[in-house]
Amino acid sequence: LPWPTVRQALLDWFDSQGRDLPWRVGPEGRRDPYRVWVAEILLQQTQVARGQVYYGRFLEAFPDVQALAAAPQDAVLKAWEGCGYYARARNLHRAAGLVAAQGFPQEYADWLALPGVGPYTAAAVSSLAYGEARAVSDGNVRRVLARLLGERQPSENWVQTRADELLDQDRPAAWNEAVMDLGATVCTPKAPACSVCPLRQWCAAYASGEPTAYPAPKKR
Ligand code: ADE
Repeated sequence: LPWPTVRQALLDWFDSQGRDLPWRVGPEGRRDPYRVWVAEILLQQTQVARGQVYYGRFLEAFPDVQALAAAPQDAVLKAWEGCGYYARARNLHRAAGLVAAQGFPQEYADWLALPGVGPYTAAAVSSLAYGEARAVSDGNVRRVLARLLGERQPSENWVQTRADELLDQDRPAAWNEAVMDLGATVCTPKAPACSVCPLRQWCAAYASGEPTAYPAPKKR
């Protein structure tokens, strides 16, 4: 595929059609790492629509990392109510204590060292808040890349490798969010809106006539 053209098509789409989400404030690559971090932890377990409500509530209770670090655990778990997976809230609270004392990690490897921060979250925060060239890979990314490239059985390793290769090195934050937004709003699991997709002309799954066959349902 003509990658520079494909990348530009998706970035242009993102610039005009990308979602306005509350943790996306601030210039690209210079956002508040606390806001991005909290959002990414929350969004691992809820969809963006509901996640936004919890996010607003959580940020009101704990507007910055110092406030979170200083709060008693009970108050943090209370603010997390409804989100489930309380281990995430406990880890976030514990990590906030470390960050309040040491400062925010400045790069991917240092984010990974925090409690509750795995490869996905470290890639998301280091790219979205710091502009580091790290590709995120989640369910939306998996579906978008599997369809674009015509891979019916994408392994985790396949997805991460392709995501790393395709990442726009100049605008990693926008690229990551563009792929997420495309997967959430256009390249949806059951009824993709191929007629409005900026990548349609290059998409192997679209060309096959059966885009929803990519990726094949996971074997159980
Ligand atoms: N899902 C997980 N992280 C997200 C983000 N930063 N924007 C939109 N959807 C997401």
